[in-house]
Amino acid sequence: MYLTREEEQVLAGVQGEALATALSLLVDVGDFYEASKLIPVSSAHISGVSYLTGGDGLIDQLDYFVELGARVSIYSTLNPSGMDRDHWKDHFIDLEFATKQFRILDNFKRLGVVTTLSCTPYDFGHILTKGQHVAWAESSAITFANSFFGARTNKEDALSVLSAAIIGKTPYYGFHLAENRVPNVHVRVEATLDEYSDYSVLGEVVGRAFNRHPFPFGAIPLIEGIHNPRPHYLKGLGAALASFGTQLFHVRGVTPERELYETVDSFDDELVVEQSDLDEVYEHLKPDFEPKIAVIGCPNANLEEMQEVVEAIDGRKLANGKEFWVFTNRAQFGMAKAVGIVDALEKAGVKILVDTCPEVTPYDRSRFNRILTNSIKAQHYISAPSLNGIPTYLLPLRECVNQLFEEVPE
Ligand code: F3S
Repeated sequence: MYLTREEEQVLAGVQGEALATALSLLVDVGDFYEASKLIPVSSAHISGVSYLTGGDGLIDQLDYFVELGARVSIYSTLNPSGMDRDHWKDHFIDLEFATKQFRILDNFKRLGVVTTLSCTPYDFGHILTKGQHVAWAESSAITFANSFFGARTNKEDALSVLSAAIIGKTPYYGFHLAENRVPNVHVRVEATLDEYSDYSVLGEVVGRAFNRHPFPFGAIPLIEGIHNPRPHYLKGLGAALASFGTQLFHVRGVTPERELYETVDSFDDELVVEQSDLDEVYEHLKPDFEPKIAVIGCPNANLEEMQEVVEAIDGRKLANGKEFWVFTNRAQFGMAKAVGIVDALEKAGVKILVDTCPEVTPYDRSRFNRILTNSIKAQHYISAPSLNGIPTYLLPLRECVNQLFEEVPE
């Protein structure tokens, strides 16, 4: 990979060990992917924040950069941590976990990272424009940034994104180049998509269908048959697709990179999605037991999604011994509080969690051994043995609510 004279000097340690280490990591990544050069990025979104997933290795890595006096050089935000900073005790988090999680957050702060603790960084001042180069980790955010906004990012990992945040550059390869963003598979949707979970299930059907192809940067679907979707529906679709390795999708007439998808006339594969395909997924994942807990907010719920929960509850109250958790972030929580949505949810018995996510928060296994959600990504990841490993089931939001709420006696 070509380096400028200034970059060569940074690599040689002229500006200190922290910058040299960060740059050498980017050079390794760039060489591996045969990038031609480094390009400036306008923001970074850093993943790998939870002590549950990062463990002591994450603490050591951050200690190293902090001790060297490293600082990020561009606006950089953070993915969810393993707990709500203020209410961790209420959520069955033990003291040792909390202590280590706070140490991780403190280290990120000392590096100059804004501790937003959300997987929806576009809720925190990242104004993305079409063609803008950024360095983001967190698969659902990458897919939404690439697809919905037409911004350009590869799937950074926890270390490469931290290095990109420190240097302010990333290797120029993959999704930073227009030619790698052209759709390679075609999807025609002939099913009715009414709500968030329908889009999430569509992501499962599409992701599974093209999973086997050895595309260098994953399947890039061009989807037809989706009209006027709410933005959070596409966020849910992208998150589900991301769990199969897709980092970019186009929707004809909806997503912005028309010049890339309107001229393509041949595809490596095609798929028609019928109602029965969605029904089959719902059937396979429906609970055959009485659920005790439902979790909503993967990716973190926005104001509109929280309002949808209020409408679904429709004046009912959480039944005794049941839990209904909504995962959001501090930006959306603040707005929801201001307009009365937080009060309405809490009055009905809903717990609202910020700073964390349904997958990276630990659960009290003596209370919860099966979980209900409306998100395919949550379903995949909560069940994953490497994370919580708790069997997880899927229903549309309204049905999740119906399982756990009851009428208030007159
Ligand atoms: Fe976000 Fe956690 Fe889901 S990071 S996308 S809520 S797995």
